[in-house]
Amino acid sequence: MAIFSPTISHRRTEPQAATPPPMRVAIIGAGRGGTALLDVLHQIGTIEVVGVIDKNPTAPGLRRAQELNVAVYDQVPDLIKDQHPSLVMDVTGDPAMESSLQEQVPPGTGIVNGQTSRLLWLLVQHETTLQTELLHAEKLAGIGSFAAGIAHDINNPLQLILGLAENLTDETDLEAVHAQAEDIIDAVKRTTAICRDLTSYSRRTSLRPDGLISVNGKLDEALKIARYAVALQDIEIRKDYQPDVVAKGNPDQLLHVFVNLITNAVQAMEHQGILTLETATVDGGTQVRVSDTGSGIAPELLNRIFDPFFTTKPPGKGTGLGLYNIKNVIHHMHGSISVESQVGRGSTFTLTFPGETGQAEGEAS
Ligand SMILES: Nc1ncnc2c1ncn2[C@@H]1O[C@H](COP(=O)(O)OP(=O)(O)OP(=O)(O)O)[C@@H](O)[C@H]1O
Ligand SMILES: [Mg+2]
Repeated sequence: MAIFSPTISHRRTEPQAATPPPMRVAIIGAGRGGTALLDVLHQIGTIEVVGVIDKNPTAPGLRRAQELNVAVYDQVPDLIKDQHPSLVMDVTGDPAMESSLQEQVPPGTGIVNGQTSRLLWLLVQHETTLQTELLHAEKLAGIGSFAAGIAHDINNPLQLILGLAENLTDETDLEAVHAQAEDIIDAVKRTTAICRDLTSYSRRTSLRPDGLISVNGKLDEALKIARYAVALQDIEIRKDYQPDVVAKGNPDQLLHVFVNLITNAVQAMEHQGILTLETATVDGGTQVRVSDTGSGIAPELLNRIFDPFFTTKPPGKGTGLGLYNIKNVIHHMHGSISVESQVGRGSTFTLTFPGETGQAEGEAS
């Protein structure tokens, strides 16, 4: 973007580039535990999952591994020979595997199995529950700031309904009665749509399955919802969408990501400035940029804004969970987020997702 000079703007990517070489981990067992472990380890920059093993070719973790470009095997020795893991994690729960691994794994390669694997599995489950709870806590806190916007938007059609209904009480022309009844139905539909959007937005967990999402449609939907939280009337909104940009993930979670980024951007502009939303397919991947001309972020704060509970907003105004949750959702989608910012000029958050092909299902576009 032209207004940002790359020489003086500050940039940070989440996760941070790893300095030591990544730890090479192999997972044995591609059931529920193996799949969850794969998902968690895959998000950590300092760990490389080099292979997943299961004798059952239909084990769910093998499909997941293929999606993530992780090699799959059905025999331990083949994996050891090809990948030279530094750590082998056995989540099969099979006591026979424990002793057979001692024989098959070369000296110097760590082995995690038995109770230690179970402990790890419990920690992973705990972490997943915590992330869901934090996402929900932040959504609920945010809904409070929506109240004024919602009240305004519901009040308008209600006033209209009241006026029309008052007219109807002494309307004798049947045609006029029908026309006014139609207007009432439209007004009710509008309020119902507001309630529907917000109910699904505030739900603890999404009822919708993961799939291909129309990114442009989701950004537009997010603008509609963000409007309840922040005043957009003095914000110039510029859209630069490439057609048919898609990402794979949960549509409700991606909506939440966009609402948060837009809300942050508008809050940083103190309700006046330019909000730019850009989407593109770049090098086969999907890129989304949300830029503002607001306060910018001081360089020393750039590496803290993704931390849980970090906020510069006054007490009661922000939870500091917005960007933390965004980062988690994006990592689950196997994407990344980076920020460029210049104090007094504005910020750009860039999201990248792995390339997907196909048509987004049932999404507005
Ligand atoms: N577009 C932006 N421009 C300037 N600062 C930003 C921007 N986005 C985030 N920040 C900074 O990062 C901090 C953390 O943002 P985050 O969304 O995690 O929490 P919050 O906005 O403070 O709280 P909440 O999301 O609950 O309202 C913000 O307090 C602000 O200092
Ligand atoms: Mg925020």
